[in-house]
Amino acid sequence: MSGERLVDICGLKYAYPVYTPGMERENILRGLNLQIKKGEFVSIMGPAGAGKTTLCLTLNGIIPHSTGGKFGGDVIICGMNTKKTAIAELAKKVGIVFQDPESQLFSMTAADEVAFGLENLGVPREEMRERVCAALQMVDMTAFAERSPFHLSGGQKQRVAIASILAMEPEILVLDEPASELDPIGKSEVFRVVNRLRNEKAMTIIMVEHESERIAEFSDRVLIMDQGRIVMEGPPGEIFNKTEQLRAAGVSIPQMAELSSGLRERGYGDCNFITLEEGENYFAGKA
Ligand SMILES: Nc1ncnc2c1ncn2[C@@H]1O[C@H](COP(=O)(O)OP(=O)(O)OP(=O)(O)O)[C@@H](O)[C@H]1O
Ligand SMILES: [Mg+2]
Repeated sequence: MSGERLVDICGLKYAYPVYTPGMERENILRGLNLQIKKGEFVSIMGPAGAGKTTLCLTLNGIIPHSTGGKFGGDVIICGMNTKKTAIAELAKKVGIVFQDPESQLFSMTAADEVAFGLENLGVPREEMRERVCAALQMVDMTAFAERSPFHLSGGQKQRVAIASILAMEPEILVLDEPASELDPIGKSEVFRVVNRLRNEKAMTIIMVEHESERIAEFSDRVLIMDQGRIVMEGPPGEIFNKTEQLRAAGVSIPQMAELSSGLRERGYGDCNFITLEEGENYFAGKA
């Protein structure tokens, strides 16, 4: 991992605009600081309404450029201050995949869908074809290139949505609960792709998720958000062993972390695994 800082957020505060007379404007983000280096995989957890999606929208300038509202502090993406940079410029650096695949697809075929953003960027035909092929291959959807997105499963739709972002070759990929609306098969398909992007491409990824097992497996760092602030932050091994604090924050805990916390309470003080693989190693060491 190089030391290059791709995200540098300092004192970020944000309140959505209020259109109802007499209603108070409420700060949804309340003084947030965050730095992310190139190649890092950072996961964000937290209860509903904590401000996770709001934070994602500040990364590509949708907040404040499209939303308005009251914005304070600075969000610097690849050296560009979002306040002074157009959304179109930021979109080349930050790609966001949202939770609902339906709302992100509108083309006749999966390949057209992936090509759409590139057409807007004015990418030459030949290069466009190559980028579309590579992106569909990365998400294992080559066989469905000519299929209408509307005739795909939820997991397949979400993989096309991810491919259309990948084709733009962003520096930072943001996944806002990419699997939360999918069935178990769709979830596994999407997480397989995420794992691949992490392992094979070493992409800088920010993922909002509730699936703590996946987070424990993938992340370099976990952030817990509550009421517009980052309330816990650290490597997954450290965060997921603070089971009491996580329960209080309303965050799900990996089953392996629950098991290892239970064993610690029963006197196995050296027990601190959070994934199946780590648990296996622990018990192999005891055998
Ligand atoms: N466009 C908007 N206008 C006004 N308030 C909004 C808007 N979008 C979100 N909010 C409010 O901001 C707060 C944070 O919302 P946000 O969607 O960022 O939370 P979240 O952590 O992503 O929650 P979830 O886990 O449900 O996705 C909530 O109180 C929400 O009602
Ligand atoms: Mg959200």
